[in-house]
Amino acid sequence: MCGIVGYIGKKDTTKFILDGLKELEYRGYDSTGMALLNDEKIDVFKALGKLTNLVDKIENATLDTYPIGIGHTRWATHGKPTELNAHPHLGEYSYVVHNGIIENYKEIKDELISKGIKFLSQTDTEVIVHLFEDFNNRLNDTVEAFKNTINRLKGAFSILLISKADPTKIFFFKNGSPLIVAQGNEEGEVMFASSDAPLIGLAKKVVYLEDGVGGVSSAQDIEFFSENYSWNTLPTSKQFAQKDGFRFFMEKEIYEQSDVVSDCMIGRIQDNSINFDEISPELLDGINEIKICACGTSYHAGLTSSYLFERLAKIKCNVEIASEFRYKEPLLTKDTLFIVISQSGETADTLEALKMAKKAGLKSVVVCNVDNSSMTRVADFTILTRAGIEKGVASTKAFSTQTVVLWMLALYFAKINSSISSELLQSEIKALREVPKSLIVEDRIHEKTKRLSKRYLHGHGFFFIGRDVFFPLALEGALKLKEISYLHAEGYPSGEMKHGPIALADPELFTIALMPQNLLYDKIKSNVEELSARDSTICSISSLEFELCDDFIKIQETNHYMLEFFEMLVVLQLFSMEISIRLGNDVDMPRNLAKSVTVE
Ligand code: F6R
Repeated sequence: MCGIVGYIGKKDTTKFILDGLKELEYRGYDSTGMALLNDEKIDVFKALGKLTNLVDKIENATLDTYPIGIGHTRWATHGKPTELNAHPHLGEYSYVVHNGIIENYKEIKDELISKGIKFLSQTDTEVIVHLFEDFNNRLNDTVEAFKNTINRLKGAFSILLISKADPTKIFFFKNGSPLIVAQGNEEGEVMFASSDAPLIGLAKKVVYLEDGVGGVSSAQDIEFFSENYSWNTLPTSKQFAQKDGFRFFMEKEIYEQSDVVSDCMIGRIQDNSINFDEISPELLDGINEIKICACGTSYHAGLTSSYLFERLAKIKCNVEIASEFRYKEPLLTKDTLFIVISQSGETADTLEALKMAKKAGLKSVVVCNVDNSSMTRVADFTILTRAGIEKGVASTKAFSTQTVVLWMLALYFAKINSSISSELLQSEIKALREVPKSLIVEDRIHEKTKRLSKRYLHGHGFFFIGRDVFFPLALEGALKLKEISYLHAEGYPSGEMKHGPIALADPELFTIALMPQNLLYDKIKSNVEELSARDSTICSISSLEFELCDDFIKIQETNHYMLEFFEMLVVLQLFSMEISIRLGNDVDMPRNLAKSVTVE
């Protein structure tokens, strides 16, 4: 979703904002913009598309020194990606940047238009700045005007606002979408950002704002409108930021999976048992069922784990897409453990689902990659996936670490429930220890996916098929391909193809068949035969070659289906990346997408 930054201080404000936007650009790249305030003069720069376009504009401009500035990188919600719709948005004498959605903007806009106020953009954001000025013109008090403005707004939003009417201050507010206030390392320096990446190394003390908290800040003094805030420290190093010689962050992150999965297991696999310091066995007291809620790739990790929770821990488990769950009036009973899964910890639908479960009195756990994110602050318990910052919009290492955490959790619960024999527990733990090896990218595999990718650039669509945990993996393979190649792809349970989709089979239908040697191999073989008989072009990913397939990517032989799962995951990720590269797409910033989706 959108990213926002703000700065008050003596350093180079323009540089802080551009550097900050660079860190946040992966969150949205439809347009960028900044407003710089020097006493009563405001300079504004906006550009369509990626940040480099804004940088070019600024390089060609004559700049002043500005003690105050706000910046924005946009993922369009209301109004097309145009320069006019780019933030910051202007009133008569104030500017605002905003992340989120103002749900009642139409009603406010109509009201302001009836008072003669002119709107330039089609965005919901623009109402904020006009509303503020309307209040300020009547009250002649910027703080009261800002408070009144906030009280009128409905929806999820974080806001930074500057005004010539009070030219030494930034007004801020957070509701739903994330916002951080930071005290800079230097005296008299205050910073704002929608995630901590732009602040690392530049600020040590931060407040992760709670919903409903805002305030007004000058260089010397931050005034919060409520007592509901606390200071935290930030890490000082930023090792994550570079691509380290890889072509894309996505590629780097695929290669990192083996290491981050090892990190994610440290301290959690001890000798021959699974341990989570974050939770205790009492978590399962009174629990008869697990409900998982998540979106996108995180949903696929949840779906994978549902097989493991039932198979290993013998706990009934169902998984729902968070945006569906929210409005279906779900029946929630206190014997259900509610687990949400999220890389960012900010996805609006998942966060709301979590809040609903909390309100209904359910115990809740979040499996999350970002500490201090909104979900970690709402859930009763947090299990961090330790994947490190994921910058590629297409999620890779978040998925592998989530799946490993959930597999470990299934075993942890299995032990508590005494539903697993010690032999099976030991063999599962042995397999878990092998996961980092399965995730090492072999040159042979990368070369093969590169070579094969050129045969799969056309056709009328892809089916990724698998059974059991390989069905959610098929969904994930299809999602990866769709989002970065823009080719149509579907994940399907292979046994279900004959109930309709097989009608599409012809040589231009590409089937990617996940054929694990250790799980239901013969069953999926029959499904592949059915497709082959109808001339579908088939590429199998397996440790065994099957002569009816047109192409074959050979993974290592292992003795556990979950190890095959991770071997195949790497193949699927590389395959979609190589297709995307051949099609000339921007792998890290695919069109229409954004990293963390903080609107519903
Ligand atoms: C796909 C992808 C998205 C996210 C989804 C949920 O590659 O990244 O589908 O998985 O938007 O995001 P989180 O996990 O941050 O809640």
